[in-house]
Amino acid sequence: MELQQFEGAATIEKIAALARRRGFVYPSSEIYGGLGSSYDYGHYGVLLRQNIRNEWQRSMIQERDDMVALDSAIILNPKVWVASGHVDTFFDPLVDCRTCKLRFRADHLASSACGRRPSKHPGETPDCDLTEPRNFNLMFETHVGALRDEASLAYLRPETAQGIFVNFKNVTSSLRVKPPFGIAQIGKSFRNEITPGNFIFRLREFEQMEMEYFVPPDDAWEWFEYWQAERRRWHISLGLRESHVRMRAHEPDELAHYATAATDVEYLFPIGWQELEGVAYRGDYDLRHHAEASGTKLEWVGHDERYVPHVIEPAGGVDRFSLAFLCDAYDEEVVAGRPRTVLRLHPRLAPVKAAVLPLIGKDSAMVERARGLYEELRRSMSAEYDDAAAIGKRYRRQDEIGTPWGLTIDEQTLVDGTVTLRDRDTLEQERIPLEGATELLRDRLDAS
Ligand code: GAP
Repeated sequence: MELQQFEGAATIEKIAALARRRGFVYPSSEIYGGLGSSYDYGHYGVLLRQNIRNEWQRSMIQERDDMVALDSAIILNPKVWVASGHVDTFFDPLVDCRTCKLRFRADHLASSACGRRPSKHPGETPDCDLTEPRNFNLMFETHVGALRDEASLAYLRPETAQGIFVNFKNVTSSLRVKPPFGIAQIGKSFRNEITPGNFIFRLREFEQMEMEYFVPPDDAWEWFEYWQAERRRWHISLGLRESHVRMRAHEPDELAHYATAATDVEYLFPIGWQELEGVAYRGDYDLRHHAEASGTKLEWVGHDERYVPHVIEPAGGVDRFSLAFLCDAYDEEVVAGRPRTVLRLHPRLAPVKAAVLPLIGKDSAMVERARGLYEELRRSMSAEYDDAAAIGKRYRRQDEIGTPWGLTIDEQTLVDGTVTLRDRDTLEQERIPLEGATELLRDRLDAS
């Protein structure tokens, strides 16, 4: 039986509160009242996101022979977005409530008595009075150059994918690639979402991790299956519970304008099952449209073959992945009669891998040993030194930011050169030699 409810202590509100309290995520421009669905990332948020990007890059590029990287511009020639279909079809159906003046996506309305009331209408009244749906283009507009007229109109990219398609010729003529091969890109995208919300789940400015995989048309369905399995595996390998991950094929009427088929990797967030990542079979839609619009041939030419490759696209987002990893990792428990909040993040995702704590912050011999170990550790992994406050309080702080290992320097260290290694999840403490502690943690991190 498929789970219908998130298993765990997390709620979006608790995650947002912890993220703010511990310096992961802050509301953007807060001193001016904030900006709808924009967030800033603090120190630990920056480290977590960098680790997510690193893991994606490692599995998508570094550990493969068939992948190359790209970093294309955010503002492209506006003709790109005409040819891609985004100017004409990248719409959400929008309805206004005449009573409370709020706007909603028509496709997010719950079926209710009248069939048209939003499921979570903030000022919901029985007389909710909605307009007919109308199309709203999600692309942010800007102007390039000194004049603000039709001719200078440009867009902030709503997906990174198009930067890849328009570089197909550059990549195939400059790098040693041959279908099946992929071009992977990480970067900011922008959408003027109508109903953003749920913390960093749906943002107006977000970061995507997308890969376009170019294959011979006859092999496309096989690769479509392959990438679905591969992307599911990746999320689970980094700690998402299997019971919180499912694959859901799109119905024909929900397919994006470019897609022949699509399957979402869905995650059971505390708000229910939602798209975490999309895997789309884009056919030759993009290469064909850009070739027609630009007059440039975008095809694969081999010794005795010539064809327009088909594309499989796994497309995810750093912000949404961060939220899923935080929700899955969040735990509350009572230990020895005291409540403990802990982020059981996968060690490779944890912002800080190890904390070095002298038991008595005022003992200069302990501080000296602890500083020495910390300075050695931080050369090979993200580490923290903390000698302020009682040891229990310091552990609690490290638990809340998800640090997997704590190293405590105490009186015994000064006698026999050993330190206490505390495990975040089991709370087990073992005595290990200070000498070689960095290598031991390095090995554990590599094996995790
Ligand atoms: N190129 C295909 C594409 O952009 P998408 O399903 O619209 O497909 C892919 O987006 C992924 O990007 C989503 O699965 C999600 O992880 C992330 N994403 C999309 N819109 C987002 C938003 N408004 N806020 C945060 N993440 C978003």
